[in-house]
Amino acid sequence: MSLAMGAAYFDNNATTPLDRRVLEAMLPWLEGRHGNSSSVHRFGQAASEAVEAARERVAALLGASPAEIVFCGSGTEANNAVVFSCGRSGGPSGHLVVSTLEHPSVLAAAARLEGEGLAVSRVAPGLDGRVDAERLLAAVRADTRLVSLMLASNELGTLQPVREVAAGCRARGVPVLCDAVQAVGKVPVDVGELGVDYLTLGGHKFHGPLGAAALWTRGGAHLDPLLVGGGHERRRRASTVNVPAVVGLGVAAELAVRELEERERRLAALRDRFERRLEAIEGVVIHCASAERLPTTSHLAIEGVQGETLMIRLDLAGFAVSTGSACSSGVVEPSSSLLTMGMSEAEALSSLRVSFGLFNTVDEVDALADALERQVAELRGAPAAATSDV
Ligand SMILES: Cc1ncc(COP(=O)(O)O)c(C=O)c1O
Repeated sequence: MSLAMGAAYFDNNATTPLDRRVLEAMLPWLEGRHGNSSSVHRFGQAASEAVEAARERVAALLGASPAEIVFCGSGTEANNAVVFSCGRSGGPSGHLVVSTLEHPSVLAAAARLEGEGLAVSRVAPGLDGRVDAERLLAAVRADTRLVSLMLASNELGTLQPVREVAAGCRARGVPVLCDAVQAVGKVPVDVGELGVDYLTLGGHKFHGPLGAAALWTRGGAHLDPLLVGGGHERRRRASTVNVPAVVGLGVAAELAVRELEERERRLAALRDRFERRLEAIEGVVIHCASAERLPTTSHLAIEGVQGETLMIRLDLAGFAVSTGSACSSGVVEPSSSLLTMGMSEAEALSSLRVSFGLFNTVDEVDALADALERQVAELRGAPAAATSDV
């Protein structure tokens, strides 16, 4: 399946391929069946039943109650909705606490509120890729309106001390947003155990469809809708519900509940096999290797090799991976969250993220490790001028 584009796909933290079982559940809603789930007639009622069944499945995945689930279009939308709702409740002053590992959908929303007059405290993780709970709690003030801490880092895969932070915030009466977009479907996530007030997930990160995400809000937690208009989703998110995508999200959630243990074991075995193979390459550092982390993610740096160059060479060789940098206006910039944790610019620029999914095979992992070894040897042997042209 991951050879669909003539390449092996190792960028599952960016998005995962759709599970065929999810596709099959969606197909009737793309051809033949249709309906606005808010309509009163039989078409609407059938769509509404399908949406409510999906809501139950998503709630079961989180140990939540179905009425607390709001379907959204994306993880970005769900995160924006919470940050803006909490940040703007109570006038133009106030304060937010975010970790610097947060996804841009939290960081950029917080920065926008900063422009509107709110104060924002940004707390960096240590070199172990984990934000210290005490440091985050120490940033909380009497006027703090929200603390945001993700469950798993999309870059490093490291798991964060959300439970400890939520317990501390509850004692201070401050709500907590947990962006679990990268964690759901990969490790157990239970909203009761975490003790947070808001939690977000996105279907396409665990073999569900694009265009379907969910925002869980603890019963009674305040939410000003980001999208206003119709009365959909109990007036918490206006917009006609994307029935096919929501049905797909429900099935992806149900499969994750059923298969979670087996998935964790299989993915960790692939990751560990890959990381063992890297021991053959000199100067490779696996970031946060001894931290608690997702079974899906290897984040590494290769001494003296530019991540971007290696990523492009691997793409040409038939392997899709990602880097710890972003290209903006033709200039390769290191990831800011890697810099905030204390990583040097050179190390951040030489980093690579390899993320595994359900459809990767042992043979693909071995082939990637072989290709990586070959490309690194070539880059190290090649004269500097030649490597920058690749
Ligand atoms: C941790 C995390 N949060 C939020 C998002 C946003 O999801 P989307 O791009 O689907 O809106 C992502 C996507 O990469 C993510 O990894």
